[in-house]
Amino acid sequence: MDILVTGGAGFIGSNYVLQVVASGCYGRVVVIDSLSYAANVASLAPVAGAIEFVEGSTADAALVDRLVAGVDVVVNFAAESHNDNSLNDPRPFLESNIIGVWNLLEAVRRHGKRIHHVSTDEVFGDLQLDDPGRFTEGTAYRPSSPYSATKAGADHLVRAWARSFGVRATISNCSNNYGPRQHVEKFIPRQITNILLGEKPKIYGTGKNVRDWIHVEDHNRALEAIVERGRVGETYLIGAECEVDNVTIVRALLRIMGKPEDWFEFVSDRPGHDLRYAIDPGKIVTELGWGPEFQDLQAGLEATVAWYSDNEQWWAAAKTAAEKVYAVIGR
Ligand code: NAD
Ligand code: DAU
Repeated sequence: MDILVTGGAGFIGSNYVLQVVASGCYGRVVVIDSLSYAANVASLAPVAGAIEFVEGSTADAALVDRLVAGVDVVVNFAAESHNDNSLNDPRPFLESNIIGVWNLLEAVRRHGKRIHHVSTDEVFGDLQLDDPGRFTEGTAYRPSSPYSATKAGADHLVRAWARSFGVRATISNCSNNYGPRQHVEKFIPRQITNILLGEKPKIYGTGKNVRDWIHVEDHNRALEAIVERGRVGETYLIGAECEVDNVTIVRALLRIMGKPEDWFEFVSDRPGHDLRYAIDPGKIVTELGWGPEFQDLQAGLEATVAWYSDNEQWWAAAKTAAEKVYAVIGR
């Protein structure tokens, strides 16, 4: 199977490319990435000889058409992915997350190819802390931020192209990923790199917000299962049943890194900040036999701390740029 991976120089996409190349199960692995601020081509260096890398945007319909024509399946990671940025300037989110997906759908429709669309649990909005419920494939959409609204819109486009034009599509909605090669604007790498640089971790609002953490390699193993065995037309929710609040994560990082557990500061809250996400992964577990291999968050965080400690050259420039952005918005 020849595969086109969009957004393959970003966090989850690059880990996915490393994983599928290592699996040896695919033919051509073509990667398109616009090399936005969030990309890092160094992430793909270990497989540079095994992939075809194209610098370009999914918003470029002609380029997308040409690349889709040459493969069997598209896995779409390409997106603007950071909520804080979407609150400052939503335009790139519409361009990548809506126009880009529209172009991919039109191309797979024209050429009769399959697409897997990588989406997020944020399309469902948030849950109260004491709500016994979790998100399922049947949960209604209720996105809160410009980012999640564009991801919700993209999911609706995929379903519309599947129903109206018979496009062979699957969708997955995953919870918060952590692991190596995540951009330092995101919560866990921001705090790890702050601590490494002698800066206190910064917690938004009360820090009681809960995220349902999954290691990026577990997310990508779930995506491989969907691409290989998933039923066309279906949606699968992916999560590792690991709900933890933000203060608890920061305390764990501080312990791992040998600092006092209360060595952090609260900063102003994110407008519209979702309180809690929680995934019920029952469908993908039962139907595709997937399950997370990283069951121990403490061990996963220790490995992630070790990766950022060992790879400062990977993140140093992005850290300076990201903290300039945070300084402007006061967080
Ligand atoms: P990321 O920001 O690290 O990477 C996104 C990549 O896409 C970057 O390399 C960027 O340059 C590229 N890109 C952006 N717009 C593009 C375009 N128009 N054309 C080509 N490339 C483009 O994001 P991530 O965390 O790796 O997320 C990847 C996907 O997974 C996104 O669709 C996101 O919504 C989804 N997702 C992320 C998480 C998470 O916790 N990070 C959880 C669930 C779903
Ligand atoms: O749930 C899946 C989503 O997870 C993905 O769709 C998004 O692409 C991904 O960015 C992530 O969204 P979040 O907004 O949950 O992730 P972020 O890393 O920005 O923040 C995680 C939590 O930590 C959130 O409650 C906000 C908080 N936070 C974040 C930063 C950057 C802080 O308290 N301090 C910080 O410095």
